Amino acid sequence: MSKKVLVLPGDYIGPEIMAEAVKVLDAANARFGLGIELEYGLLGGAALDECGVPLPDETLARAREVDAILLGAVGGPKWDGVERHLRPERGLLAIRSELQLFGNLRPAILYPQLAGASSLKPEIVAGLDILIVRELTGGIYFGEPRGIRTLENGEREGYNTYKYSESEVRRIAHLAFDLARKRDSRVCSVDKSNVLEATVLWREVMEEVATEYPDVELSHIYVDNAAMQLVMNPKQFDVMVTGNMFGDILSDAAAMLTGSIGMLPSASLDQAGRGMYEPCHGSAPDIAGQGKANPLATILSVAMMLRYTLASPEAAAAIEDAVSAVLDQGLRTPDIHSEGTTVVSTTEMGDAVLAAVQAA
Ligand code: NAI
Ligand code: MG
Repeated sequence: MSKKVLVLPGDYIGPEIMAEAVKVLDAANARFGLGIELEYGLLGGAALDECGVPLPDETLARAREVDAILLGAVGGPKWDGVERHLRPERGLLAIRSELQLFGNLRPAILYPQLAGASSLKPEIVAGLDILIVRELTGGIYFGEPRGIRTLENGEREGYNTYKYSESEVRRIAHLAFDLARKRDSRVCSVDKSNVLEATVLWREVMEEVATEYPDVELSHIYVDNAAMQLVMNPKQFDVMVTGNMFGDILSDAAAMLTGSIGMLPSASLDQAGRGMYEPCHGSAPDIAGQGKANPLATILSVAMMLRYTLASPEAAAAIEDAVSAVLDQGLRTPDIHSEGTTVVSTTEMGDAVLAAVQAA
């Protein structure tokens, strides 16, 4: 049976990195007989220019039909002047919430070849491989009531609501435990249950779901301690699961332990395991059109897509091994370059990964 992937290249470096990722996906498709069919769509600034809106109906309709979505990055200074509700980034938020992509997977993996790129000492981060599972469609970023109101004394007050229902916690918990089973079978749930009642319930539901996974070890940590431990001893973690806001902050911190935004893929999954895959970085207008963009985050997003949505773990591993192989060859885009390595362009990096996948 054929599987359909919607490719949304996006803006600035988006199309440049996507061209390389598609090359690699095509090679894996042929090499492993995956039967994947690609179609292309518009999102973000590219959609705004063409259709007048950042998320055209046509794109959303196709997004609902396909098995997976591969996204470059959207936005940039070209659209700085447009009204807030038309901004390219709005298209991204809209597609995430329309598709109910509640499970955001952000791996932080440090390739041993890049240990020098981290801001932490090599012995603290070498071999780092953690997966942060962030709830993406609930919590304080979406909770009502919210707003800015004027109090009786005339002073203004800003307020938001932190809330999670049992079913929201249950589905993110199941996702985290299922993923842990494919890794080191450890889940650490991050909350602030010493202060926030909403996270007392979060912790209770985590415990309840854990009883269905006797083979997975569950631990709990307060978010402030989690931030400290991530910087002090990040390798103690396997899967970390947390709410939307804590996950936003912790996943950025964890990402930076690897020292290179051009290397970090991500996934956002729905209840059925369908998902959108994209690099963690943005559209990098400062380097667009210069052949300097690192395509590896997008290429690694293809690998995640093959593993988590398209049930092709062998092809996923081949791509990840290919990335490791080109790093072994000393090939580096400028963002990950260090002494003794060879600087290559976006296209040359894509070609090298392609060759390594074909040789797999
Ligand atoms: P950014 O991630 O685009 O760039 C930050 C820095 O990292 C820049 O110096 C850039 O050159 C570098 N960088 C990013 N990706 C790289 C890659 N693949 N290879 C080498 N270097 C890379 O973040 P910034 O500058 O804050 O945002 C630029 C635009 O992207 C904005 O319009 C922003 O709204 C949008 N954005 C879009 C996202 C998305 O589509 N998911 C996420 C974050 C930002
Ligand atoms: Mg963030």
